[in-house]
Amino acid sequence: MIPFNKASITDVEKKYINKALDNFKICGDGEFTYLCNSWFKEKLNINNFLLTTSCSHALDMSAILLNLSIGDEVILPSYTFVSTVNAVMLRGAIPVFIDIDKRTMNIDVNLIESKITKNTKAIFVVHYAGVSCDMDKLMDIAKKYNLKVVEDAAQGVGAYYKNVPLGSIGDYGCYSFHETKNYVMGEGGALITKSSEDYLKAEIIREKGTDRSQFIRGAVDKYTWRDIGSSYLPSDILAALLYGQLQRFDEIMNKRLSIWNNYNDNFKILEERGNAIRQYIPEYSTHNAHMYFLILNTENDRDYFINKLKEKGIMATFHYIPLHDSPMGKKLGYSKGDLPVTEEYASRLVRLPLWADMSDDEIEYVTKNVLEILK
Ligand SMILES: Cc1ncc(COP(=O)(O)O)c(C=O)c1O
Repeated sequence: MIPFNKASITDVEKKYINKALDNFKICGDGEFTYLCNSWFKEKLNINNFLLTTSCSHALDMSAILLNLSIGDEVILPSYTFVSTVNAVMLRGAIPVFIDIDKRTMNIDVNLIESKITKNTKAIFVVHYAGVSCDMDKLMDIAKKYNLKVVEDAAQGVGAYYKNVPLGSIGDYGCYSFHETKNYVMGEGGALITKSSEDYLKAEIIREKGTDRSQFIRGAVDKYTWRDIGSSYLPSDILAALLYGQLQRFDEIMNKRLSIWNNYNDNFKILEERGNAIRQYIPEYSTHNAHMYFLILNTENDRDYFINKLKEKGIMATFHYIPLHDSPMGKKLGYSKGDLPVTEEYASRLVRLPLWADMSDDEIEYVTKNVLEILK
């Protein structure tokens, strides 16, 4: 069976994990957490970077930093992972789902203004597949209406909007280092804050609501309860795993891009024949080959295709079930038909296997079968 995804782990990661164990410093904020922070500063010019236990938790922290509360409204796409909306709802705020652009599967920026009310506090955007949203347009709207912006860049590590790393454009950015992402720590993520003031607040939220981080830096002489918070810092063993991945950042990126480009060249013919639509990458976006997806002509075609690939030993998968059309979405008053582009394109999308260590034979086998089934 060719799996859909497989983390790329080598002796480099193992060496750093052993070093973390030898350090006996296995709680959070040890040597490797600081090395990861420095890496993001040096390589991507991201200053206010905090490793977290997951992207979900980074999103939760953003919602706390926003002071979201009951009655506040937050604009976001319905085509996203549940963590984006849970962060909003855990604070008692109301999610306002917006349809997507069918070419990028990202929030349709042109629909946002009509949904802004006096209660709107923030916009949560998702850079689907590591392909950037139209951030200039979005930031202009946010500025015009005085709204905060959270970038769910779970899939966007190493991707850019016009040369600016995703996650570092809005007020807050959230990364995922889950096993299924480009760079992994098993379970893990990061929160990026635009302002240094928010960074200090985020440090407190991440350390159970205390100023322990400042205490460790010697900035205060004892640490105490300062705000609400929880335990959002990962073990240094996981940070060591991530640091190993970061040492292989370009290698992993280049391998993924090469597979992505290979698929994309070979599947041009599907588009020419009208069998499928390939991913669209806007000019402003430098993607990170997080995902390779195709849009088939109908949901039936898509399901048939996934089953046929499975018979050939290839795992291909659909993706998000639109949130507005879920049992919880219905409880919020949404129903089928509310967001037609999201519904249609989510039902036609299929993701193909893509991971850094895929062999040439595996890539060729997937390509050959995709072309054959869609003939
Ligand atoms: C868009 C998006 N946001 C958030 C998450 C959650 O990430 P994590 O598993 O690190 O909490 C995911 C996970 O796949 C995701 O795709």
